[in-house]
Amino acid sequence: MTSLTISDSDLEGVKNKVVVVTGAASGIGLATVKLLLNLGAKVVASDVNELPEPEKDLVTFMKVDVTSWKEQLEMFKTAKAKFGNIDHVFANAAGISPTVSLLEEDVDESGDLLPPKLNTINVNLLGCLYTVKLGIYYLKHNPEGGSIVMTGSGSSFRRFTATDYTTTKHAVLGLLRSLYGSLHPKLPIRINAIAPGWTDTAIIPRPAISIIGESLFQSADVVARSAILLMADKNRHGEMLYSDRGKYWDIEKGEAGLNAYATRMVGQEGQGAEEEAYARSMRIREEMEAKAAAAETSK
Ligand SMILES: NC(=O)c1ccc[n+]([C@@H]2O[C@H](COP(=O)([O-])OP(=O)(O)OC[C@H]3O[C@@H](n4cnc5c(N)ncnc54)[C@H](O)[C@@H]3O)[C@@H](O)[C@H]2O)c1
Repeated sequence: MTSLTISDSDLEGVKNKVVVVTGAASGIGLATVKLLLNLGAKVVASDVNELPEPEKDLVTFMKVDVTSWKEQLEMFKTAKAKFGNIDHVFANAAGISPTVSLLEEDVDESGDLLPPKLNTINVNLLGCLYTVKLGIYYLKHNPEGGSIVMTGSGSSFRRFTATDYTTTKHAVLGLLRSLYGSLHPKLPIRINAIAPGWTDTAIIPRPAISIIGESLFQSADVVARSAILLMADKNRHGEMLYSDRGKYWDIEKGEAGLNAYATRMVGQEGQGAEEEAYARSMRIREEMEAKAAAAETSK
């Protein structure tokens, strides 16, 4: 885990860049929009709620529910039509309520156990997958490429009892790790994530902040800086920047990061063998599919 500081000059690279932000009306999303505007970026901001003044008049705003592929597609098409290219994508929208624990014993009229509600999974995971897929498509078609930043959480890599929320935030780390090898340098797209610790936003009700302890909370401005650093610094790829009470650490990459730590636990050979076996099995599968398709057309 490598600690770092973020200076104002580290963020200057987003000047004149076009940035798409989801969940932009409040908290970390709004703080990021404000800082992006101060740094001279062009922002396409979206949320299910309206943006407050004055940001509303300073950005291209779209009302978008991230669980709707159609609405997200429209947002990306609008950004491309208006600015010609998209440079950075911030997949930030998420919610934590209502959460499910899987311990519920809610039943239907016949007394049969009901399936878990998927609200949080849909917003936090499906919504993020949609943003990332669209982001890859549009960044691939930008000759200069760009970057995707996803919002994870301290619960992306630690135990936290909000079952569905923690599952989706672990999935953000999963997305980061699984896409890392398919993007830069094969494609001109970097992917990174932020992992905020407790942050004073609307996602945590005021009374809960008092109970947890005010001193544990950082401002959303702290987190916004970590998101923009990942966009601005072209050397950052595959990182998860954790922020806690105003301090920053890359918890994923490098020799001191979680990925290298896990590799040391299972052994380098094990990890390498898994990757190689997966690549081989995919090649065999493609060959079999190609043979089957050829046999079909020769009938
Ligand atoms: N606040 C924290 O302590 C904390 C810690 C770790 C991670 N996070 C993450 O930070 C991100 C931002 O949350 P925040 O803390 O700023 O909370 P917030 O409630 O202030 O902001 C979340 C925004 O997402 C929007 N949103 C919710 N559902 C949406 C949907 N279906 N489609 C589009 N927009 C939607 C909300 O309207 C809101 O504007 C989330 O991914 C959250 O999980 C927050």
